[in-house]
Amino acid sequence: MADLVRYEVKNGVAVLTIDNPPVNALAPEVWGQIDEAVKRGVADPAADALVLIGAGTTFIAGADIKAFELLKTPADSMARSAGTHALLKRMEDASKPLVAAIHGNALGGGLEVAQACHFRVATKDARVGQPEVMLGLIPGAGGTQRLPRLAGAKMALEMCTDGKPVPAPKALAAGILDHIVADDLLSGAIAFAKDKATKHEIRKVREIVIGADEVKAGLEACAAMRASLKKTARGLRAPYAVVDAIEAGLKLPFDEGSVRERELFADCVASTESKALRHLFFAEREVAKVPDVPKDTPIKEIKRAAVVGAGTMGGGIAMNYANAGIPVLLKEVDQAALDRGIATIRRNYDVTMSKGKMTKEQVEKTMALITPTTSYDGFDQVDIVTEAVFENMDLKKSTFAELGTVTRPDCILASNSSTLDIDQFAAASGRPQQVLGHHYFSPANVMKLLEIVRGRETSKEAIATSLKLAKKLGKVGVVVGNCFGFVANRMLAYYMREAYLLLEEGASVEQIDRVLTEFGLPVGPYGMQDIAGIDVGARIRQYLKSIGKSRAEGPQSAIPDRLYEMGRYGQKTGAGWYKYDAPGSRNRTTDPLIEQLANEEAKKRGIVRRPIGDEEIVARITTALANEGARVLEEKFATRPGDIDIIYAYGFGFPRRSGGPMFYADTVGLPTVLSRVNEYRARFGDYWEPAPLLEKLVKEGRGFYS
Ligand code: CAA
Repeated sequence: MADLVRYEVKNGVAVLTIDNPPVNALAPEVWGQIDEAVKRGVADPAADALVLIGAGTTFIAGADIKAFELLKTPADSMARSAGTHALLKRMEDASKPLVAAIHGNALGGGLEVAQACHFRVATKDARVGQPEVMLGLIPGAGGTQRLPRLAGAKMALEMCTDGKPVPAPKALAAGILDHIVADDLLSGAIAFAKDKATKHEIRKVREIVIGADEVKAGLEACAAMRASLKKTARGLRAPYAVVDAIEAGLKLPFDEGSVRERELFADCVASTESKALRHLFFAEREVAKVPDVPKDTPIKEIKRAAVVGAGTMGGGIAMNYANAGIPVLLKEVDQAALDRGIATIRRNYDVTMSKGKMTKEQVEKTMALITPTTSYDGFDQVDIVTEAVFENMDLKKSTFAELGTVTRPDCILASNSSTLDIDQFAAASGRPQQVLGHHYFSPANVMKLLEIVRGRETSKEAIATSLKLAKKLGKVGVVVGNCFGFVANRMLAYYMREAYLLLEEGASVEQIDRVLTEFGLPVGPYGMQDIAGIDVGARIRQYLKSIGKSRAEGPQSAIPDRLYEMGRYGQKTGAGWYKYDAPGSRNRTTDPLIEQLANEEAKKRGIVRRPIGDEEIVARITTALANEGARVLEEKFATRPGDIDIIYAYGFGFPRRSGGPMFYADTVGLPTVLSRVNEYRARFGDYWEPAPLLEKLVKEGRGFYS
């Protein structure tokens, strides 16, 4: 077996080094070797104390998440965790001081291992956390029992329900850490351990007594946390399970509280919520790997950028660059439009400042990185230009033709188009290898998704550079193919088609939005359109009509275009699918006009409107997404089903607990999805046609992921 935990004695201290790259995850063999190494150190006459440290860039990033797949039932999990809990107690019972030396991250099981040590020292830039909740889990190796004893129930509740890591100085103040090492971590940890050995000091966290007052305050904190989770953790199980486990630890002796923790963990690990979140964890890491773009593809350093178009999207994109510390030119055609764009950026930063997320000084420093301009002066100095002009083919083509002459030949030219053909821009620029799509989602400075659209001739370097840049801008970059609407909006057209048809068939705008927000989306399709602008979709439809195409197969509702003709563009005009108090207001009320339009359009199409159940709304919408997603996959516009799931999780807030539309389809069962498509085809017409890949997978008894 590989040496996953190395053993050596240094200066009278046994140093146990966990070496399981890249993040020292606790695979089952690592647990076993830690156990053996602690026993060896205790028995070794040459060692007075023990230090547990991580090799490479980090301490331990947690249990090996892949190994959870082996825990098929709660009984599997109970059996496995009994062994882990006993092992941690054996560590804690070591008769010589055992010190965890933390650098990088001590997360999840990593922090739990550290809590089973007698003391914890860390570098000042280390971070400790219990992020299990992000994977639909609770700390399962004693964290819900030991952390409240170290840091108090309130802090433990916060750390385990929000999952955010805590920086070392804060962890020191909270009592999670005992000491911060200023210089070399190992030398500092050895000196600390020797000192404890000299003083014969050993501290077992599980033996810390929680006083009656602390219990009372802790139980109150549990009640308060449950109340706040009602708002922040709608539809989730794990955050509540965390509170249950911590509460059990306050009411029961350590061993009994630990059993409760194991039961709750066992429930969570077998849940769809956890499987979905674990799937997204790995899918997010996979998207960065593009099969034909090797790891060693040269990457261009982006030192300076430019954005053309200072509208809502262009302004947001410029903010992304500035936030990442990259100087950016922001160009508009005239001064008035430029001033409006800069004023919007300023307003956005003011809001951030008012929430305490940036200081005035930081805002001024960041704004100073954005240089407004009405000319192409300085474009020969930039490494990338993002075009964010109006969504119009001719305008974009002429912009690319200009960019091809005013920038250096190696400058990357990216288009923020949300639908149009990147290859046409590439041809217009005269250097197609440097051209690709960078499709941001609105608001561009907030939404984490970046669709990186690969044109026919886009170079591998431009793709690799874009993926790296996405990370630098705090985005998740997903490489997609160049079809109309790319992946996100191509599938969205089918989602919207169903939403419109459901309205004509008898559902209301309010019902559809309610059902989908209950399903877990942050906003329903109609609320979303009112935010994005009904005019945007209408103009795309006009363009498509002009080239003899439509966005999705089958009947298209006329209601959105009728709203557009009435000047009802959504929130910005004070009316759209809903009525608003005033233009720009978010305060919406039902507008009877929509019901009237739905009745008129239904009559024209010979539809007898009927009450529609909530389940049918979810089934129709999610089936439309899965069926079109299957087409996107077989036509190779997305590399993997996980890429689509990431696009929907980050671009549209598809509920993470459901894992994205493709993972969700697998949980529903592809035979059910296919039979729905066939049923809808019989009821509504041939535009419901099963994707061949869907039929193939069902025939083979497989899912998108199996
Ligand atoms: N298990 C298995 N693999 C892991 C892992 C884990 N806990 N953490 C990271 N990895 C893998 C990633 O999949 C990735 O693999 P590839 O290179 O093959 O894609 C590699 O390690 C590097 O990870 P990142 O790309 O994420 O690297 P990063 O430097 O951006 O981030 C990190 C590092 C902050 C540790 C981040 O990986 C992370 O947050 N990891 C998960 C931490 C976590 O959730 N821990 C709790 C696990 S559950 C648990 O511990 C339950 C319990 O109570 C026992």
